[in-house]
Amino acid sequence: MVFPDYDTLSRHAASEIFLKITRKLNANQKFVLGMATGNSPIGLYKNLIELFKDYQGSLSGFHTVNLDEYFKLPRESKDSYYYYMTQHFWKPLADMHESFNLYTQTIIPDGVAEIPEAECKRYEEAIKEIGGVDVQILGIGTNGHIGFNEPGTKGNSRTSLVELAEETIEVNKAHFGGDPDLVPRQAYTMGIGTIMEAKEIVLIASGKSKAPILQEIKDLKKPTEDIPASFLLEHPHVEYFVDEAAAGK
Ligand code: GLP
Repeated sequence: MVFPDYDTLSRHAASEIFLKITRKLNANQKFVLGMATGNSPIGLYKNLIELFKDYQGSLSGFHTVNLDEYFKLPRESKDSYYYYMTQHFWKPLADMHESFNLYTQTIIPDGVAEIPEAECKRYEEAIKEIGGVDVQILGIGTNGHIGFNEPGTKGNSRTSLVELAEETIEVNKAHFGGDPDLVPRQAYTMGIGTIMEAKEIVLIASGKSKAPILQEIKDLKKPTEDIPASFLLEHPHVEYFVDEAAAGK
């Protein structure tokens, strides 16, 4: 769906996701929210936190799973996705709701785990153990990456430690004081095969830098490894939340 601007998009995405979460929690069922980082979902998280302020129920059945994490960045690093999540979502939520424990109800790759293969296995198993992801939020890179699945990634890939594309390093350097040499070259990412197992997917795209890649995907008939997000064409339940700039209007 195309929204006039980023704020409207964020509000709508938040209220839809809030309803999905609370519908299950109110029925005493678990809800697992797959979360993305980057600029795109910040407005959504802000609005979700607002909505949770008035929620009277328990969040003990609410779990989050994060898509990716930079390799070798410790959790305390201000550039880690762990830190981002703490700032934008986990801590504000835990401060309002005692029933949300930000240590036991969140799953995210550990950038400084000693053995990468073991870390990928732990992460995949943790997702399985909580019953899989109900709704996975995604952003999209200007090169079509989802999570850190860069062009060339296979559609059945599982969680792994990957090399970042040059374009990704160029774009993400803004978060590292503009210095590309400070951007880690590798990251853990949930695989495309793992992403495709989420029951539902919500993709958020805002701003004109995303317009060309979205247009390319729209013009495709079937997925291609050159554009990892194109694998979503084969997912049965994807909703696109796009603002006018990203839609090329
Ligand atoms: C980063 C993240 C992705 C994110 C993408 C887009 O590299 N690994 O998960 O979706 O870039 O980021 P933004 O929303 O800031 O454009």
